Amino acid sequence: MKFFAFITIVILIASCNRPNKEAEKMQATIDSLQKQLKETYKPGLGEFMTGIQTHHAKLWFAGQNQNWPLADFEVHEILESLDDIQAYCTERSEIKAIGMIKPPLDSINNAIQQKNLQQFTSSFTLLTNTCNTCHKATDHGFNVVIIPTSLPVVNQDFKPIQQEAAKKQRM
Ligand code: HEC
Repeated sequence: MKFFAFITIVILIASCNRPNKEAEKMQATIDSLQKQLKETYKPGLGEFMTGIQTHHAKLWFAGQNQNWPLADFEVHEILESLDDIQAYCTERSEIKAIGMIKPPLDSINNAIQQKNLQQFTSSFTLLTNTCNTCHKATDHGFNVVIIPTSLPVVNQDFKPIQQEAAKKQRM
């Protein structure tokens, strides 16, 4: 009888222990995944801003060359970066102010759809001023954005392709 009681206790302990072991293993996996996630590289706000800075400059030359497909592409690159900022920079309280950039971007988008150079130029000035308004509002007023004075890269043609093709045909 004592033997059976002993066996029953052993079985009970063994069956209680198994789920515990499983839970421990699961916890270890979660811990290791959490560690990996914490150590995974994600760009900081400054890096997203540097990307936006390039798109801002390219957008200007695309617009001034009336290369509307390129301008449309660049404005959407900026919008994508803004979405990424909202997804990845949640620990930065400054991003609460990011919404102010949407109206000037909408206005540029509209100018691009209308292929209206004058509206593009005035909206771009508004956009640039808004970049600086946000920098001032978030204690980064020393980052002063201006309308680009020279091409941001030397290895990209900002002129529209159709014009080039037409020019070649005329030659
Ligand atoms: C949320 C408001 C906000 C808006 C809108 C905004 N910025 Fe910024 N920007 C910041 C903050 C905050 C920083 C500092 C980031 C950091 O800590 O690295 C910054 C930094 C920068 C930097 C410096 C990046 C570096 O590391 O050298 C540039 C360039 C920049 N922004 C360009 C722009 C441009 C161009 C626009 C407009 C198209 C813009 N920003 C709009 C808040 C904003």
